Amino acid sequence: MQNLGIAITGSGSAVPTTSLDNQALTKLVDTSDEWITTRTGIRQRHVANPQESLSAIATAAAKQALEMALLKPEDVDLIVLATSTPDDLFGSACRIQAELGAKRAVAFDLTAACSGFVFGLVTAAQYIRTGVFQNVLLIGADILSRWVDWQDRRTCVLFGDGAGAVVLQANQSDRLLGFELKSDGTQNGSLNLPYNASGRELTPGIEIAQGTYQPITMNGKEVYRFAVQKVPEIIDKALFRANLSVEQVDWLVLHQANQRILDAVADRLKIPQQKVISNLACYGNTSAASIPLALDEAVRQGKIKPDDVIAASGFGAGLTWGAAIFQWGR
Ligand code: COA
Repeated sequence: MQNLGIAITGSGSAVPTTSLDNQALTKLVDTSDEWITTRTGIRQRHVANPQESLSAIATAAAKQALEMALLKPEDVDLIVLATSTPDDLFGSACRIQAELGAKRAVAFDLTAACSGFVFGLVTAAQYIRTGVFQNVLLIGADILSRWVDWQDRRTCVLFGDGAGAVVLQANQSDRLLGFELKSDGTQNGSLNLPYNASGRELTPGIEIAQGTYQPITMNGKEVYRFAVQKVPEIIDKALFRANLSVEQVDWLVLHQANQRILDAVADRLKIPQQKVISNLACYGNTSAASIPLALDEAVRQGKIKPDDVIAASGFGAGLTWGAAIFQWGR
């Protein structure tokens, strides 16, 4: 019989070498360690230097995940790279495929901002459930330092760079217990990394638009309100689909945007603090990387154990949000 269930069998993570603490940011903008820590919980973040690349940190995270899953690069059927900040706008997944030597794998990028990892998890799962692929490498990676306005204290203190990866494998029992994904484009203007162009006449009567992407803009209060309302709702829905109660959740692994959001979501769901995984103090908001980075650390620290039930939820630009309930390991 064909294995159409899904197991998450490996994880890995990597961050750029340079870290930037809150004190260092006070030299750039009018802020303080106290403001950043109390409003966000973030103490430092990692930033990529010009020699580092998204592909390199993503590849490093992917190698660790493959090792944990006891897979060779040639075993991988599909690579999904969730990112909003590829090295190349045509996509970076294929470069990672080459760097890994995953010769058989098909590779593509997926963009859903800070929801990218959860959206990628569900996307990857469909290929396994339909019997098309057996071994899928899912990477969440972002280098938002490239796109932050380092003069804007409302946003530059929040973000950091990083990569996380997991391996999904076909399995007899299905460990992806439930999920739910949502988008609301009417709120698109709350968080953007927009392309701004001006018209250029190519030949008389034919005009095209050329420009570049602009730094991140965000309505912090709107995004905060959205997250605190929608994330508990969607986790509840995903738990309903999984036929589980909130008491059966062992670990809450949320997109690591802000400690206040983590606390408020846990509070609304009545999930005790000991079950909330948080590492944003060290990394800031690493967008698509934040969930697999937090997951990988918790697995390697021995907190998350085989069979534990994890409620993961991503949320962000789009606006997009999603939740997945899964058990760790085979
Ligand atoms: N340092 C010092 N002061 C700052 C500051 C900084 N880094 N950033 C903003 N301020 C100031 C503001 O200018 C404002 O001053 P004013 O009252 O004189 O105008 C004051 O602090 C309060 O700003 P406000 O924006 O109301 O703060 P807040 O309590 O809403 O916190 C965020 C701001 C960004 C931390 C919070 O809204 C948030 O976390 N939102 C969600 C953001 C997010 O997670 N985005 C990514 C989702 S994927």
